[in-house]
Amino acid sequence: MKSIDNQFFQTHLQGVDVSLDSQILDTYGRDWTHLREPAPSAVLFPRDTDQVQQIVHQAREHGFAIVPSGGRTGLSGGAVAADGEWVVSLEKMRTMGEVNITESCVDVEAGVVTATIQQAAGHSGLFYGVDFASAGSSQIGGNIATNAGGIRVLRYGLTRDQILGLTAVTGTGELLALNQGLIKNATGYDLRHLLIGSEGTLAIITGATLKLWPKPPLRDVLLLGLPDHQAVMPLFASASHSFKLSAFEFFSQACVEHVCTHAGLQPPLDQPASYYALLELDQVDEPLMLDWFEQAMDSGWIEDGVISQSHEQSQQLWAYRERISESIAPRKPYKNDIAVRVGSVPALLEQLDELVKQHYPDFEVLWYGHIGDGNLHLNVLKPDTMALDTFKSQCEQVNELVFAAVQNHLGSISAEHGVGLLKQPWLNFSRSAAEIELMRCIKRQFDPDGILNPGKLLSG
Ligand code: MLT
Ligand code: ZN
Repeated sequence: MKSIDNQFFQTHLQGVDVSLDSQILDTYGRDWTHLREPAPSAVLFPRDTDQVQQIVHQAREHGFAIVPSGGRTGLSGGAVAADGEWVVSLEKMRTMGEVNITESCVDVEAGVVTATIQQAAGHSGLFYGVDFASAGSSQIGGNIATNAGGIRVLRYGLTRDQILGLTAVTGTGELLALNQGLIKNATGYDLRHLLIGSEGTLAIITGATLKLWPKPPLRDVLLLGLPDHQAVMPLFASASHSFKLSAFEFFSQACVEHVCTHAGLQPPLDQPASYYALLELDQVDEPLMLDWFEQAMDSGWIEDGVISQSHEQSQQLWAYRERISESIAPRKPYKNDIAVRVGSVPALLEQLDELVKQHYPDFEVLWYGHIGDGNLHLNVLKPDTMALDTFKSQCEQVNELVFAAVQNHLGSISAEHGVGLLKQPWLNFSRSAAEIELMRCIKRQFDPDGILNPGKLLSG
């Protein structure tokens, strides 16, 4: 690792806030994964785009790699700095413009926290469509860099679908202002979409214009107990034809148990079910809802269920789904975030369930996910007594089989968490050799010296 001191930054990056403090290096060098020990050489806090450009120029000139950093809530190691990199934290760039009511959009800098955008939209009678459990700490720049999904993709799409404009600094220090809030723009390649989901490997995202939606009507939340996972698809088909769904989530009884223990909650239903579906939908008349509920019971898709009667109850029901991730975090789960077409979910689930029983007989395995998007989170919990490295290597061996099954179903090895460091060795299970080569060529154009987030997404 190259040595670096405060004098260097005073000489070359005057005016940029820098920290070399070991505690700060440790905090900003990691995300929510436990893959590698952080070892950045500095953490830089630019206050504007101009400072980001200066940082890129200096990193390039002095041969340092850069890890762009947001709320560090990532689950694939995309924000891990373990090799003397400069972490460039966007957290001091958090200016947000006035909500534009006429155009239903808002300009934000990359460091604005997702929940702040949701609140500002709400105060103006509008709605920001992306939401997930880490919205209170994740930042919009990171959301864009990973094309974050979450719980309402069914209705509002991914982060990609919210981006009307993007500003970003490439690996040569060039500032790009892409699409600039336009709804229509038929002038060739849309580079905005190339940067969305590029995981900090092509450019550092500095700001965006975000699309906002009309405020949703009142919504019902249903938590339904399912006898088995075969019931989930007919239930989804029926619900999506009967209601205007904004979410259709899925989780197993083991997930409920973890949430109840962690958050001190009572079980949601009188009798535990094998699996649960959580539905959020535009409110419908009670008789219509009861008819549908009875039909779902008669068809054997559900055994029991509750319907929220107030906003508070909706939030309580959401907690059983939203708090799964935090409740299992102390067990250092090995996470899979796979996707197939919705119609292929039952066959994949069946296949993976068998595979997991065969290969993880001693591990606790949890299923949850955004099943309405074909996105399943398969989490394997580390036994308390097992060393992290042993656990990781055992999980990686099974990965080959899991990803081969996903590949057979023409699916994706990462639906919404990104490839980062964690999934990088298996990119070829979702992308052809020709695609990966094109990705490398694109990377070389945006970042000829390979200083932006090296080793993430594409191998170094
Ligand atoms: C979720 O769906 O809860 C998030 O993607 C986080 C996770 O998978 O743990
Ligand atoms: Zn998720």
